[in-house]
This record gives sequence, structure tokens and C-alpha cells, in this order.
Amino acid sequence: MDSAAPYRCDVRPVVWHADDTRAFGLAPSASVHVTAQSPVAGQIVDALALTGYRARLVDRPDGTADAVIVTGGLSDAAPAARHWSALQMAKLARRDGAVTLLLQPREPASGLEGLSRTLRKEWPESQTFAWTVSDPSASALASLITHALAHGFGDGELAGSQTRVVPQAGAPISPPEALDSAGPSVWLVTGGARGVTAACAIELARAVGGTILLAGRSVETPWIESLPPADDLKTLRGLLVAHGRQQGARVSPAEIDRTARALLAGAEIRETLAAIRAAGANAVYLALDAGNAEAVAATLAAAQRAYGPVTGLVHGAGVLADKLAMDKTEAELRRVFAPKVDGLTNILGAIDPARLSHAAFFSSAAAFFGNRGQADYAMANAWLASAGRLLAQSTPGAQVKVFHWGPWAGGMVDAALAGHFEAQGIPLIPVDEGARIFVSELLGGDRAQVELVVGEAWAVA
Ligand SMILES: NC(=O)c1ccc[n+]([C@@H]2O[C@H](COP(=O)([O-])OP(=O)(O)OC[C@H]3O[C@@H](n4cnc5c(N)ncnc54)[C@H](OP(=O)(O)O)[C@@H]3O)[C@@H](O)[C@H]2O)c1
Repeated sequence: MDSAAPYRCDVRPVVWHADDTRAFGLAPSASVHVTAQSPVAGQIVDALALTGYRARLVDRPDGTADAVIVTGGLSDAAPAARHWSALQMAKLARRDGAVTLLLQPREPASGLEGLSRTLRKEWPESQTFAWTVSDPSASALASLITHALAHGFGDGELAGSQTRVVPQAGAPISPPEALDSAGPSVWLVTGGARGVTAACAIELARAVGGTILLAGRSVETPWIESLPPADDLKTLRGLLVAHGRQQGARVSPAEIDRTARALLAGAEIRETLAAIRAAGANAVYLALDAGNAEAVAATLAAAQRAYGPVTGLVHGAGVLADKLAMDKTEAELRRVFAPKVDGLTNILGAIDPARLSHAAFFSSAAAFFGNRGQADYAMANAWLASAGRLLAQSTPGAQVKVFHWGPWAGGMVDAALAGHFEAQGIPLIPVDEGARIFVSELLGGDRAQVELVVGEAWAVA
């Protein structure tokens, strides 16, 4: 392997025993608040009280308890509401106390690990952990939690009174030797007309051909004929100002900016469509907001009537709304959840998942390691990983891959962000290299390995 190239790492479960680590020590007389968001919360309180903890059921933590157990992750509330309420409860806990977020490995999918990993980075003085509980029956759960608190367990699936299983980035894996070139004939690629997913869609077209349906919110705005070509926002804004003057029109800066962005989006969409067609595949653009359930149902029904059932899915749609967890609003979290979480839910409801032979979800290293300012993004991506694991279980014949990408040299990584990563010594994934890794893992990777981390520094963090 070229040591300068971004490498890929598998994600493997590692078993930790109680005496391997002690993330926090909670004396048996400590005070514990258990949030009343799940019907089993009362039994957890009773079991903790029997062991000697001063345990109390609370609607909201009041910042006085040594530890807070958040049970909202065990409820089946809609994802954005469930994750927002977990964040709210964590924010109300004592900053130097312990917070544990409970979640299940089964439906509904959960991204609370992304929250615990991020909060540990934002609040280094607190002890925030996510505990996955396979058996949500009240008695099993209460006993597991009592043991986990006594042992001061960190993140992981509580596998028994003495053990937890933690998904960890394993050793670098070698590129697959052979690719399955007979991939699906109809691919749906969300976010695939722009950004790094577009590069992946083009590479996919080269490898397998077929029909590639690209979905994004932008419309394919035609270029203004009298406007010279430009491919960066600053230059194009200047050209539009001059163009407006020539036409004698008074246009506001906000309108100039909107027009410039729409023109660039239209040009990027046409470029991607042309590149896919040049690679020998059929390319179709669907102007579609993945977060809009009705639009997804109607558009995908029409597209599947025209091109046949979707048998390959690449879910790359995503947006950022970075801000520290303490300052984050529910509207921002919902904006980040809309394309990734609502988007995938809407798409899986509009196609027949049993027909999928390949599915790839674009997550981020932020979900796997946590990242300051990205609590919502880390949760949405960790939710995608959880949905990927569930999809792999329910469609055993399909190749399902969740890519926890490190930063790329493109897409949402603009010059400012690139400088930020550079200053931290985190190398960027070159776009052509990332696209090749995507195709080789999706078409040739180990079927048993659903998640992988890609990106040098992030994989060894
Ligand atoms: N670039 C990186 O370094 C990096 C690292 C880790 C993970 N990722 C993940 O990789 C994916 C692509 O990232 P990128 O860097 O290429 O970002 P980008 O340049 O901002 O592109 C995002 C793409 O998602 C589409 N999109 C956003 N919201 C949508 C919605 N509601 N419905 C349909 N399409 C939507 C956008 O198209 P419209 O604007 O036209 O809707 C665009 O094509 C994202 O999921 C991101 O989280 C990227």
C-alpha cells in the first residue's frame, strides 16, 4: 500500500472486560437521575436504588445528580425528535458528572453514539457515554445498567455484567482484487449531481454503466447566454453585477448571490450528466428534496415506471450546520437530519429495499470519532451507519457499505475548512482517489464488512 494514499480501515467489534478500563468511578451512594422517556425508566430506578444509589425518576435533569441516565433512545419517537431530546437532556446534566445515553441495536435506528463521541470532545470535563442494550426488557436492562455504572463503563454494547463490545477502527484493509462489474442496472444516487458524490457516480458509471438517477434539490438552471463562462462564485458574482449594469437593471447583492449559486449548480449538474454519459451510462437528473416524503414518493414512482426498479442505492445527500452543542437549535438539527435521516427513510419507503443488490451510505469520520461543533451531523451519520447495519441484516443478499469518510479535497470542504484540517495535520482525500475507493469497496469489498473508515489521520485517531 502506498503510505501517502488515504487508506481504508475496517470496523470491528472489540470486547472489553470490566477491569480493562474505568471511564468513571461512581460510588454506590452516588445520586443518579433517570429520565422518564421510556416505560422501563422506573425499573431502572428501582434496581439502582436496591444497589444503594440515590436514584430518582425525572422529567428533566436539574444539574445536581452525579450521573444522568437518558432513556429517550429506547423510545420509538421520530429520529429528529428523539436525538434532539437526548441532546437537551445531556445539556441539563451536571457538567462534571456522568451522562449515559441508552439505545438499542434494533429498529428504530439510532445515532446517539455520534452524540456521546462529540460531547466528549466539546465537554472534556464530563463523562458522556452511549450504551447499547440488546435486551430492552426491564429486568435485564436494569441489571446491566447497575453493573455498567458500578464498573464505570465507557461507550459500547452492554453484553453482560462484565463485558461491553465496542466498534473500533481496525487494521488498514487492502483494496479488493476483483470488482463485480455486473452491478445493478438502475442506480439512485442522492447528492450525486454535485460535490464528491458526483465524482463517485462518474466512477461508478465507468465501472458498471446502466442507468444512473441523480437526485438533488437544485434545479438545472441554464447558463445566461450573454454571460462569459466562470466556475467560481466570486468571479461569477462580479460578472453578474457587470451584466446587470449593462442591462440597466438594479439587482440586490442577495439576488446576485442567489443567481450565481443557481447558475453554478446548473453547470455542475450538466457537467456530471455529461461525464456519466461519456463513461457509457444513461444519466438522468431528478430535482428532488430527499427530505420531502411526498416528492420522493411521487418522483421515484415515476422514475421507476420509466427506467425500472431501483436496484442500487447511493445515499450521498447531506448538509452541515456546524455549531457547538450548547448553542445548537432544534431547527439546525432538523436541517442536518432532513437529507440524511428523513431522506433515507423516504427513499427506502419509495423503492423496494428487497430488490437492492448494492447500497452505499455516505457517513463521516465525525460520526465515528465525534467532532467539535458537529453534534447533529455526527448523530445523523451515526444513524446512517445504524440504518446500514439494519439494512444489511434485512437484505442478506445485498452488498451494504457505510463509508465513514475523512475530509475530502472537495465538496463541502471549502478553502477555509481545508486550511483548518491542514493546520491539524489531517490530510485530505484526493477526489479521484476517494471515488476509486468508493467503487472498489462497493463492487468488490468484503460483504461481511458493512462499515469502513477512510482517511489517513482519522483512521488512526
Ligand atoms: N466532503 C467531505 O469531506 C465529506 C467528508 C465526510 C462525509 N461526507 C459526506 O459526503 C456526502 C457528500 O458531501 P459533499 O462534500 O459532496 O457535500 P456538498 O458538496 O455540500 O454536496 C452535498 C450534496 O447533497 C445534495 N443535497 C443536500 N441536501 C439534499 C436534499 N435534501 N435532497 C437531495 N440532495 C441534497 C446537494 O445537492 P443540492 O444542493 O442540489 O441539493 C449536493 O449534491 C455528504 O453526505 C457528506 O456528509 C463528505
